[in-house]
Amino acid sequence: MEPVVPGVKIIVAVARNRVIGRDGRLPWKIPEDWNHFLESTRGGSLVLGRRCFEELVDTGALKDGTRRVFIVSTTRSGPDCFPDFPSALEAAKRAGRTIWICGGERIYAEAMPVADELILTLVDADFDGDTRFPEWSGEFTNLHSERASRHGSIPLYFRVYRRRERFSRAECV
Ligand SMILES: NC(=O)c1ccc[n+]([C@@H]2O[C@H](COP(=O)([O-])OP(=O)(O)OC[C@H]3O[C@@H](n4cnc5c(N)ncnc54)[C@H](OP(=O)(O)O)[C@@H]3O)[C@@H](O)[C@H]2O)c1
Repeated sequence: MEPVVPGVKIIVAVARNRVIGRDGRLPWKIPEDWNHFLESTRGGSLVLGRRCFEELVDTGALKDGTRRVFIVSTTRSGPDCFPDFPSALEAAKRAGRTIWICGGERIYAEAMPVADELILTLVDADFDGDTRFPEWSGEFTNLHSERASRHGSIPLYFRVYRRRERFSRAECV
């Protein structure tokens, strides 16, 4: 079993049907959630797939220069690029900042066993899309906090999950 790494947080906005993306973009425009993403990740290290990186560049989210990026890609090269998730994560750990796992689908799946927190916005409606967030309830059962809001008619839930304890005391003895 992979060790959990303190300070590694998954951040995602997910629809009720687990859709997170469509045609390389978010399936929605929800300013409150976008600001939540920007505020949360400011000053941190972002580990993300190539398409997510390109999307963030397009939005201008990296322009303030406060975030470091660790891009997982087999086609890009450069000091910020890594050929697989474990090597990107190792490099991010050395940077000594909070690590934010920012997707996409494969990156989230690989990070699920090692992250210690899940910062999840539930966009409580079904959306069409081509990218999904993995099932998380097996790893993150401990709902630490929740704040409810709305985007028009769509309820939003800003949640923080902590990792499920892997062993109970009884199982350890
Ligand atoms: N709702 C949300 O919170 C949220 C968050 C993140 C993303 N999204 C959405 O999700 C979509 C993007 O996600 P995506 O899954 O399509 O793309 P992605 O993971 O950002 O990018 C895919 C590319 O990243 C590289 N990559 C990813 N995992 C890899 C691995 N394990 N090993 C080696 N390379 C890897 C590969 O790049 P190369 O081709 O260069 O090898 C792959 O083609 C967009 O629609 C975006 O808006 C939504």
